[in-house]
Amino acid sequence: MRAVVFDRYGPPEVLRVEEVERPVPKEDEVLVRIHATTVNRSDCGYRGAEPFFTRFFTGLLRPKYRTPGMELAGEVAAVGGAVSEFVVGDAVFGLKGHGANAEYVCIRETGALAHKPSGVTFEEAAAVSDGACIALACLQKAELREGRSILIHGASGSIGTAAVQLAKSFGAHVTAVCGTKALDLVSSLGADAVIDYTQEDFTTNGETYDVVFDSVGKHSFRRCRHSLKPGGIYIETDLGFMWHVPILALSTRWIGDKRVTLPIPKYSKEDVLFIKELIEAGKYRAVIDRTYQLEDVVEATRYVETGQKTGNVVLTLNGVVR
Ligand SMILES: NC(=O)c1ccc[n+]([C@@H]2O[C@H](COP(=O)([O-])OP(=O)(O)OC[C@H]3O[C@@H](n4cnc5c(N)ncnc54)[C@H](OP(=O)(O)O)[C@@H]3O)[C@@H](O)[C@H]2O)c1
Repeated sequence: MRAVVFDRYGPPEVLRVEEVERPVPKEDEVLVRIHATTVNRSDCGYRGAEPFFTRFFTGLLRPKYRTPGMELAGEVAAVGGAVSEFVVGDAVFGLKGHGANAEYVCIRETGALAHKPSGVTFEEAAAVSDGACIALACLQKAELREGRSILIHGASGSIGTAAVQLAKSFGAHVTAVCGTKALDLVSSLGADAVIDYTQEDFTTNGETYDVVFDSVGKHSFRRCRHSLKPGGIYIETDLGFMWHVPILALSTRWIGDKRVTLPIPKYSKEDVLFIKELIEAGKYRAVIDRTYQLEDVVEATRYVETGQKTGNVVLTLNGVVR
């Protein structure tokens, strides 16, 4: 089968497409023939070994897993003997830690895999899981409900576009911050108010929120704390300069009345099923910026690394897009 591979950590150019052996599902695994996958910021972190400590999990000197890619949508091509939830031919979507930038991948039946929601294409289904699972983990810390307010900074990114839709589905009042080109898109995702960060600095406009979520790792608690109500929560997705975010997450448990959190996503079947339900209820959609062929993975990755994508970048295979 065709798969993206890399043998050393480095820039996007270390990636190439190669013929490799097709995996064989174990007793509890499903073999998925992938029609669409994505390149996301986590894939880029893995390939570039950023931050450095991730090498302790992904291979100290060279990558432990040669094929990157987390998100996938496709059809079940074979199942192990103990699999009962899926049969050959089922359309599925979900994610696993690595291996999805390929024609086939094996994934455990109990992993983050579900039947593809009706009415969405494989491209759309491939692009929903990572941003939504991370946003979900973040927002679960925010106790969002009717009457609570949240400001989402970086609302045009993969996590940001997911967070706007999830926060609305939880009933919160959502203020989204993004650049000029994404204002209409972010409004269409349901934001109650949209701030163009090139025109207005939300940290100095006097407005306060129950939650401030920096979904793109470009802000800081120091600058945002005056935008929080008493007892407010500041949510980050990045470790921050000199890893100050985890330190703040610990210290604000005991000091001050405003908390900092840095949630870690679970990537579970439960989360994927929750997202599927929202999609089928018309409350969630994947935002796709660009679509590339698998062979153009280097170009796709370079684009993701500009930090300027709107939503998600998809790779297609097999020419099947329904
Ligand atoms: N916690 C975790 O497990 C985890 C996992 C993966 C990624 N991450 C981190 O989460 C962050 C977001 O990931 P993502 O995939 O959502 O990012 P992304 O899709 O690459 O974000 C790109 C978007 O961010 C916007 N942006 C860039 N600079 C901005 C600024 N200064 N102010 C406001 N918006 C800005 C861009 O809009 P403009 O072009 O208009 O600027 C663009 O639309 C990254 O820092 C990543 O490292 C965390």
